[in-house]
Amino acid sequence: MLAFQQVSVLFALAVHTFAIPLIANRDTVQDLFSRDDSSSCMSNNNALQIGGLWVELIGNYTQDLADAVLLPGFTDYSDSALSLNSACPQTTGPTPALMSAVFENRTQFEAGQGPQPSIQSTISQVWNGCTSVTMRYQMTNLGTRPVVGLIVMDVVEAPAGSSHPYQLAGMFSEFDVGSWISNLKDAGQC
Ligand SMILES: *[C@@H]1O[C@H](CO)[C@@H](O)[C@H](O)[C@H]1NC(C)=O
Ligand SMILES: *[C@@H]1O[C@H](CO)[C@@H](O)[C@H](O)[C@H]1NC(C)=O
Repeated sequence: MLAFQQVSVLFALAVHTFAIPLIANRDTVQDLFSRDDSSSCMSNNNALQIGGLWVELIGNYTQDLADAVLLPGFTDYSDSALSLNSACPQTTGPTPALMSAVFENRTQFEAGQGPQPSIQSTISQVWNGCTSVTMRYQMTNLGTRPVVGLIVMDVVEAPAGSSHPYQLAGMFSEFDVGSWISNLKDAGQC
C-alpha cells in the first residue's frame, strides 16, 4: 500500500498540472489517486484521474504510460477518427472501414498513437460509473475552432501493486470532425 501511494504521488506530480485545476476547491492530490473503497463504484476523483490518463495519452504520450494503463486487449472505437482520416489522412496506410476499431489492441494503439503530434485537451466534465467513465472534453491546439468530443472509457480495477488503480479496457469516442477538418483546411493540411 505504501509503495502504491508513493508511485501514485509521483504520477500525481506528473499529471496534476492539468487535472487539479479542473476540480478547484475540492480535493487533495492524495485523494485523487487513492482508490475509493467505500463502494463498488469508483469515486469522482478516480474518474477524473482516468480522464487525466486519456488527456496524457494523447497529449504527452509515452509507451511506458500506455503499457501501464492500457490492457493488452484494449480496443479503441471512433468513427469520427475514421472519418477524419478518410477525409484528411493523419496517418499512413488504409483507414479501417466505418464501425471497425481504430485500434484493435494496445500494440496497435502504441504504433498508431505514439508518433502522432501532441493533442492538448481540457476536460469539461467527467461522470463516474462503476465500470466506465464518461467525459466531455475539448481539444484546444488544433486550430482556431475548438474540437469538442465525448468519450466513454471502459475500465477495470488494476491488480494490487499496479502503478494506477484502474486500467482502460476500451475507449469509445466521437468528436466534432467538421471543426477539425475546417481547421486542417485553414492550415493547408487537408
Ligand atoms: C508534458 O510533458 C512535458 C515534459 O515532460 C511537461 O513539461 C508538460 O507539463 C507535460 N504536459 C502535461 C499536460 O502533462
Ligand atoms: C493487434 O492487432 C493487430 C491487428 O488486428 C494484429 O495484427 C496483431 O497481431 C495484434 N497484436 C497483438 C499483440 O494482439
